Amino acid sequence: MQLDATIAAIVTGGASGLGAATARRLASHGVKVALFDLNEAAGEALAREIGGLFCAVDVTNEASVDAGFAKARAAHGQERVLVNCAGTGNAVKTASRDKATGEIKHFPLANFDRIIQINLVGTFRCIAKSAAGMLTLEPLADGERGAIVNTASVAAVDGQMGQASYSASKAGVVGMTLPVARDLMGEGIRVNTILPGIFDTPLLQGAPDNVKAALAASVPFPKRLGNPAEYAHLAETMITNGYFNGECVRLDGAIRMAPR
Ligand SMILES: NC(=O)c1ccc[n+]([C@@H]2O[C@H](COP(=O)([O-])OP(=O)(O)OC[C@H]3O[C@@H](n4cnc5c(N)ncnc54)[C@H](O)[C@@H]3O)[C@@H](O)[C@H]2O)c1
Repeated sequence: MQLDATIAAIVTGGASGLGAATARRLASHGVKVALFDLNEAAGEALAREIGGLFCAVDVTNEASVDAGFAKARAAHGQERVLVNCAGTGNAVKTASRDKATGEIKHFPLANFDRIIQINLVGTFRCIAKSAAGMLTLEPLADGERGAIVNTASVAAVDGQMGQASYSASKAGVVGMTLPVARDLMGEGIRVNTILPGIFDTPLLQGAPDNVKAALAASVPFPKRLGNPAEYAHLAETMITNGYFNGECVRLDGAIRMAPR
């Protein structure tokens, strides 16, 4: 698919970090970009900057997602591109012991469910609704109707201590990539997933400098955090390279996460 002003795109989590970089990159080609995000202030500001549209969407909420697609499609027409970046993490051990008191701490299961709802079910909800819309489109010359990019994490494969729910949610995104691509193959919709390593986004910007330096030093090469623009570059490749389908790709400077 060639990116130009005839193409409409939706980027979830588009107000910040990897999603914002992707929205900027798509808009630089003239693509009409709608941002789905909870963060209204940042989303409205970025929409103004790139001439796009902000839609206040919570990917865990069916009605909110439906309203977002309706608003985006009314303004830009049916999207041919969906990039799923909305997501969040947490760090809780499966079971643990308070060092001082010896008290045994239980995992708060509601917390596990929340991460799965945002990262996994939220991603699938947006895929399913976007794909249904893409089915109404006329195929392009090469038979393609649309392209979808999801965001997992290297934690899908090498999750660290405390990442049971996060890793499970991201492994779910990896696991559904091929079957979703197969579900949509007859309709000319391609589906791929990026597994980012450690990227310099607002998720990390609260971390102290020495922590960020240690994270950067743990990357084999290049010895730095990933730049969100590098994520956006791969997302664009997955969208524009018509032979890219059903694949999950690490983008991580060869990092393999340690247990902690
Ligand atoms: N930054 C990294 O190092 C890294 C590494 C691996 C994977 N990831 C994944 O990449 C994605 C983007 O992360 P980022 O680093 O850009 O983080 P970020 O916090 O900068 O951006 C995430 C965006 O998602 C939005 N969001 C969260 N929950 C939402 C919901 N329920 N509905 C709609 N929007 C919601 C947030 O408001 C935020 O704007 C996430 O899925 C994250 O798990 C990030």
